[in-house]
Amino acid sequence: MAKPVIAVDGPAASGKGSLARRLAAHFGYAYLDTGKLYRAVGLAVLRAGGDPTDIEKAESAAKAIDPTHLDDHDLTGDAAASAASKVAAIHEVRAALRDFQMGFAAAPPDGAHGAVLDGRDIGTVICPDAPAKLFITADVGVRAERRHKELLSRGEASIYARVLQDLEDRDRRDTTRADAPLKPADDAVVLDTSALTIEEVLAQALRLIDGKLG
Ligand code: CDP
Repeated sequence: MAKPVIAVDGPAASGKGSLARRLAAHFGYAYLDTGKLYRAVGLAVLRAGGDPTDIEKAESAAKAIDPTHLDDHDLTGDAAASAASKVAAIHEVRAALRDFQMGFAAAPPDGAHGAVLDGRDIGTVICPDAPAKLFITADVGVRAERRHKELLSRGEASIYARVLQDLEDRDRRDTTRADAPLKPADDAVVLDTSALTIEEVLAQALRLIDGKLG
């Protein structure tokens, strides 16, 4: 029997990561932030002095990623985010990261009874048969405000207008790429979190998932 999977997709700073982490804790499922895989590839290319749009460099970085080591502090920064959305548009990179993600969903670590994966293409490509699919979104201005506050709270320098521009650039790259573009799966439930607190989002998500996990 396949283990239940909750697929959480959506644009940057929509609140999908916070929700996915809470859902995993609520159900006792394993959690995978798939954005970190793309961030790790983007960062590896940057650190080697390469350009994240360089197909060969990005592909070999993706093939060399050890997904068990994803706690590098620099992964959370904006340079990694921007590089991530560039390498993420490369077919060979997505193919190299696919097996690990599918394997995580099929056999969640530590004997967990299910998995929560968050990203851009979990409901459409990685786990098309997931019984519960959520697409978390929010107004781009609200998302930029959230990311801006998050950066400031981490003590990082941040300018709202730049954060907004970065998010718009990333949204455009993520939604217009040919391979696995960001979009809700046909059977996903779309949740707009613009006016909701994290607790309200969790409560709504739990209502939407209720009964779907078997
Ligand atoms: O946390 P945030 O939403 O800002 O971004 P993230 O989830 O860490 O993802 C960083 C970038 O990786 C995204 O802008 C996408 O381009 C890419 N990504 C992807 O293409 N597919 C995924 N499953 C996850 C991330």
